[in-house]
Amino acid sequence: MDDAAMEAPATAGPAVGELLARGRARLEAAGCDTPRLDAELLLGEALGVSRARLVLDRDENVPSADVERFERLLLRREAREPVAYILGRRDFRRLTLNVDRRVLIPRPETELLVEVGLELPAAASVIDVATGSGAVALALKDERPDLSVRGTDLSPDAIEVARANGARLGLEVEFAVADLLDGAVADAVLANLPYVPSGEPLEPEIALYEPARALFAGAGGLDLVRRLVGEVAGSPGVALLGLEVDPRQASEVVALMRDAGLEEVEVRRDLAGSERAVVGRR
Ligand SMILES: C[S@@+](CC[C@H](N)C(=O)[O-])C[C@H]1O[C@@H](n2cnc3c(N)ncnc32)[C@H](O)[C@@H]1O
Repeated sequence: MDDAAMEAPATAGPAVGELLARGRARLEAAGCDTPRLDAELLLGEALGVSRARLVLDRDENVPSADVERFERLLLRREAREPVAYILGRRDFRRLTLNVDRRVLIPRPETELLVEVGLELPAAASVIDVATGSGAVALALKDERPDLSVRGTDLSPDAIEVARANGARLGLEVEFAVADLLDGAVADAVLANLPYVPSGEPLEPEIALYEPARALFAGAGGLDLVRRLVGEVAGSPGVALLGLEVDPRQASEVVALMRDAGLEEVEVRRDLAGSERAVVGRR
């Protein structure tokens, strides 16, 4: 809100607090998980102010153009579109990534894969297979500039998003279209592959809006994991493979890696304590 808007008389439109309460109630009725937070993020976006500012401005009246902007955002969220797509961005570690429906919205648990990469020796080379928005590759380069990082994805649309994120953030990561490793070699391979079993019911935010190609991987969800483990097993130059998994799949992925000849296979837990990544070495 600009100063002129803040000085408008009380009759100019509903107050910030009232709009938040209405938004929250509507999102709750629509079945959203975090209606209060979402209403704050959307109103903040409509007014171009932070969430903290909304608290301070609770009693200020909102100009009708901003009320209409908020209404448009609210309608999208009521249709269960994820907030990250509505805002067009998502924070991941120290970065803010631009996201849209061409890419999966990066999840907090995927930060674990970045932590695996942070342990690599100086100047190691890494491929982030199935990079999507470029989240893992870009966060790794941001926090370990000495690493040589490449991001690949089967989807040309995803690579376009990842390249744009890299250019905007000024991070030197090479992005390319590829089907899994496609013969490439690096010291380490990290991947958050699609791992949802086909046909598994998902929340509307995911099922209706996120790209199916980023989610599903065969009846057990492990088709792509199995293929990538096989490719790494046949590529002696790769010293480390780190995969994000559904916690229900962790023990099966451990067995797959061991059967493929990888050693020191270990499971890593995310901040919620779930078995979220499997790491193998040779
Ligand atoms: C679960 S998303 C992960 C995106 C990103 N790494 C993240 O964590 O936010 C999986 C990605 O795998 C890509 N993908 C699907 N099949 C692939 C394949 N055969 N080779 C490479 N990438 C693939 C999808 O396009 C999608 O971007």
